[in-house]
Amino acid sequence: SRTKGKPAKGLRFTPVEPNTKDEVTVPEGYGQNIVIRWGEPILRGAPDFDPEKQSAKAQAGQFGYNNDFLSLLPLKEQEGDGERQLMVANHEYTDEVLMFAGYDPDEPTREQAEIGWAAHGLSVVVVEGGKSSGALEAVPRHRLNRRITATTPFEVAGPAAGSKWLRTSADPEGRTVLGTLNNCAGGTTPWGTTLHGEENIDQYFANTEKVKDEEHRKRLERYALKGTDTERKWERFDDRFDVTKEPYEPHRFGWVVELDPYDPDSTPRKRTALGRFKHEAAQPRLTRDGRAVVYMGDDERFEYLYKFVSSKRMRSGRSRADHEHNLTLLDDGTLYVAELNGDSPRDDIDGSGELPSDDHEFDGTGRWIPLATGDRSHVEGMTAEEVYVFTRIAADKAGATKMDRPEDVEPSPRTGRVYAALTNNTDRGAAGKAGPDEANPRKGNKHGQVLEFSEHGDDPAARRFKWRLFLVCGDPDDPGTYFAGFPKDQVSPISCPDNITFDSYGNLWLSTDGNELGSHDGLFGVATVGRRRGEVRAFLTVPTGAETCGPVVQSRRVLVAVQHPGEVDGASVEKPASQWPDGPDAYVRPSVVSVWRKDGSDIGV
Ligand code: FEO
Ligand code: CA
Ligand code: CA
Ligand code: CA
Repeated sequence: SRTKGKPAKGLRFTPVEPNTKDEVTVPEGYGQNIVIRWGEPILRGAPDFDPEKQSAKAQAGQFGYNNDFLSLLPLKEQEGDGERQLMVANHEYTDEVLMFAGYDPDEPTREQAEIGWAAHGLSVVVVEGGKSSGALEAVPRHRLNRRITATTPFEVAGPAAGSKWLRTSADPEGRTVLGTLNNCAGGTTPWGTTLHGEENIDQYFANTEKVKDEEHRKRLERYALKGTDTERKWERFDDRFDVTKEPYEPHRFGWVVELDPYDPDSTPRKRTALGRFKHEAAQPRLTRDGRAVVYMGDDERFEYLYKFVSSKRMRSGRSRADHEHNLTLLDDGTLYVAELNGDSPRDDIDGSGELPSDDHEFDGTGRWIPLATGDRSHVEGMTAEEVYVFTRIAADKAGATKMDRPEDVEPSPRTGRVYAALTNNTDRGAAGKAGPDEANPRKGNKHGQVLEFSEHGDDPAARRFKWRLFLVCGDPDDPGTYFAGFPKDQVSPISCPDNITFDSYGNLWLSTDGNELGSHDGLFGVATVGRRRGEVRAFLTVPTGAETCGPVVQSRRVLVAVQHPGEVDGASVEKPASQWPDGPDAYVRPSVVSVWRKDGSDIGV
């Protein structure tokens, strides 16, 4: 039977129960520590966190707000008993009401706006752990520590660099952008860099409603820009956030950015060859001949799955020239969008989530539709530059399949199968919207699903693939849920899968955002092969109002970013909804947490 014996190696822990505790709950026998909090100084000269005296200058040297994606990279450096790694973190967005006492959303001050700019972006921080424990501590003032903010210069790279669509009065060449915004999840490349997806960039740009040029307004609206004032009102302090003053500034966001975290003087780059949309994440896999394939999701309802295949091969040498070469891999290649076709009778896809009668699986075939290769467009009526800058419009024309909010997409390093978290889509089947299909089988989908696909011939550059739903999430008692056929009375309930990663045994780990089952969000592990395939086990849950982000699973520790704790309607500094992590007299602070076995042994064995 499927349940005989032990859970898969790496997942042998007592699952945590669904709960609404205002803390990070972990399995019995596990401990935890805070690695770093919002506002802790990481650069030389940065002051200690003092929320009553916060300044933009201080924030620019401190860990940013709302940590999301995390990457841990190797560092050949030892300090006594300590082993060091390089941690890269995204800071997706700011919650001003939880950052500033007495914040007036109608009258934000310039200093508050500038603190917000400095609290966005990325952090690079060296972290250190003892050999005998999974606990990690930040190493402040290390020479590799770095902050990238909403005002750091970026180079625009790839086929749309210099495009007329990217030019502004501050940058008439269309090649230098100030800052990165809304960095959600990301990826770690085999050549030692990190990728960061610029996601919900619409929230920063004011006055789309007032744009007179209808064509331009429609292009902005296709990227969800709308209305007049923005919530943070940054347009009052910098004209570039007002589209009636700087019409093309929004085109300079919504990219995948690449950072070389080992070189603190490097200029980060926006990789236009990977297209412009609401990038959730970007995780590469190499083809057998060394080309880079990057899988990507566009996180909005009814948006698409994409991949990029580089034309050049990665060089594995360690010379400066090899490294410089690898930093050009993501500038030249082909951008594709996915079409998925089910193979079960249409009548069987009734929107309930119950399995089709023919093969008792939601599955089918798919193809990757090319949109552009280098300077060549494959989309009628659009230049290659337009395909890259208005990728959503290109994918619409190509007839791609509208998915239930594609979040993280990652290939398993063990099997090569690719997993895509489709977080939810409550509009599926609503009036005037696309109805259920085999890959997105539920109407009013509140809990999401996880798609698994295999590229033809296990070649990530293939044009065809087979797919099936691995998990249809929700309450296991609900007949419209599915756990790869694993007995449903033996799994942890899971809702709204978002970020994903793999452990060294090949298990898939999923973090959730927006649990609709009455529990706080959490982190879950699940075997993808063998008898225990589909056995979802809850590893931790996060505090009130928080989302679980950035999971990294190493043999000795699990690292998570606890994002937006206390983010509950009506909450403020004066009326906090959470007391995490430092208790009732302190500010609620997004923080990175490390979880480990108290007895010093490996996770889940
Ligand atoms: Fe920033 Fe799609 O989550
Ligand atoms: Ca089928
Ligand atoms: Ca996310
Ligand atoms: Ca991931």
